[in-house]
Amino acid sequence: MHWPNCTSDPPWTWIEQVTSHNRDGRVSPYTAHMALIDVSTTSAHYAIHIEPGLITRVGEMIRAVAPAGRAMLVADEALVDLYVAPVSQSLSDAGFETIIGTVEADEIHKSLLSVNHLYGAALKGNLERSSPIIALGGGVIGDLAGFAAATFMRGVPFVQIPTTLLAMVDASIGGKTGVNLPMPSSDDAAAPALAKNLVGAFWQPRVVLIDPNVLATLDRRHFNCGLAECIKHAILADRSLLEFIGEHASALQELNQAKLLELITRCAQIKADVVAADEREAGPRALLNLGHTFAHVIEPISELGLHHGEAVAIGLCAAAHCARMTDRLSEDDAKQIEQLISVVDLPTQLPRPIAVDTLMRAMLHDKKVQAGQLRLVLPTSIGSAEIINDVPDNIVRDSWKAVAASP
Ligand SMILES: NC(=O)c1ccc[n+]([C@@H]2O[C@H](COP(=O)([O-])OP(=O)(O)OC[C@H]3O[C@@H](n4cnc5c(N)ncnc54)[C@H](O)[C@@H]3O)[C@@H](O)[C@H]2O)c1
Repeated sequence: MHWPNCTSDPPWTWIEQVTSHNRDGRVSPYTAHMALIDVSTTSAHYAIHIEPGLITRVGEMIRAVAPAGRAMLVADEALVDLYVAPVSQSLSDAGFETIIGTVEADEIHKSLLSVNHLYGAALKGNLERSSPIIALGGGVIGDLAGFAAATFMRGVPFVQIPTTLLAMVDASIGGKTGVNLPMPSSDDAAAPALAKNLVGAFWQPRVVLIDPNVLATLDRRHFNCGLAECIKHAILADRSLLEFIGEHASALQELNQAKLLELITRCAQIKADVVAADEREAGPRALLNLGHTFAHVIEPISELGLHHGEAVAIGLCAAAHCARMTDRLSEDDAKQIEQLISVVDLPTQLPRPIAVDTLMRAMLHDKKVQAGQLRLVLPTSIGSAEIINDVPDNIVRDSWKAVAASP
């Protein structure tokens, strides 16, 4: 276990300065298969556009919510040869002069150091208060760029172009932005190195632009990670969605366009509804943390090698066990959850045993601890959940053991 190296060279690569010019004869692919969701919170109203092929038209859609002029595109470095060119061309066509920075989508770079580099680039690029910061990537890029947008000049317009399933159905919607902090050093080799999302801000995007076609280049493992958040949404709000995912798991994994569009739209709508009801997580929005109090503990343990969605999948199983052991959830529902997680090739148990004591200690660092008490979201059936403050420690320990933590 290492401390994150906060003094390393910046992870940023600045590609080019794109100047405004129009390109003649550009064809805008249009398809009738599209969806539009309105998100209405106390601080903002915005749209989520879901449309295959939209990636080449993002410029005009951003132009509708931010004035032409300077813009900063913060892109996942892995997408440079895939989507940065069409996006920057589209921005240029729409009259934006864009500085483009790329960063490796790694939790270690979801840091204040990266935010600092972004501020520097924004200053150098003469960004103004009206200049949008645009995130092109998964949840790591969205959270990071969003936090920079929330704080630079006390807030500039922010646009999300999510490129992973997880970011399309969850991370890009609702305005939670933030970065990780290094944990204090510990003698425990299995202690997490990062405290996840400990510094952040609520900052809603002006628009969320989703092109499901970009999932064609996402590897299956990360696609499945997105399914973990879809399963979470279904457990929280919609039994028929859970059945839909189970019935069409293969078609979804093979990127059947109609099924994928339906999945993304239904999940994004659930997230939008929760956020609209409780923007600042004073109440029901905390339900979206289902599985996450467990997940945030195991995700940063490097020897487990878990991606966020995989940690969520194990966290959902632990939460289901916990709900079962406290007589909140039926055995059938708990089994159905675990079976579906396994059907979509997500882990239901820790890949290596970690001591329960280590996991319990790390849980206490999580933001969801209130007055020394763990705050857990537990399913009460498939389609509903509740927030519990008084789950006894021994039940939480047993829930960890149920997902293969060592005594
Ligand atoms: N803000 C929120 O409300 C919220 C909600 C859930 C999760 N999150 C955060 O989201 C992050 C996880 O997001 P993620 O799973 O999207 O991870 P990620 O951003 O790390 O992306 C996963 C991987 O996919 C690659 N990738 C992205 N799009 C691609 C594409 N179209 N083609 C090929 N490769 C592609 C990336 O390079 C990376 O290797 C975590 O940091 C988590 O804390 C935030």
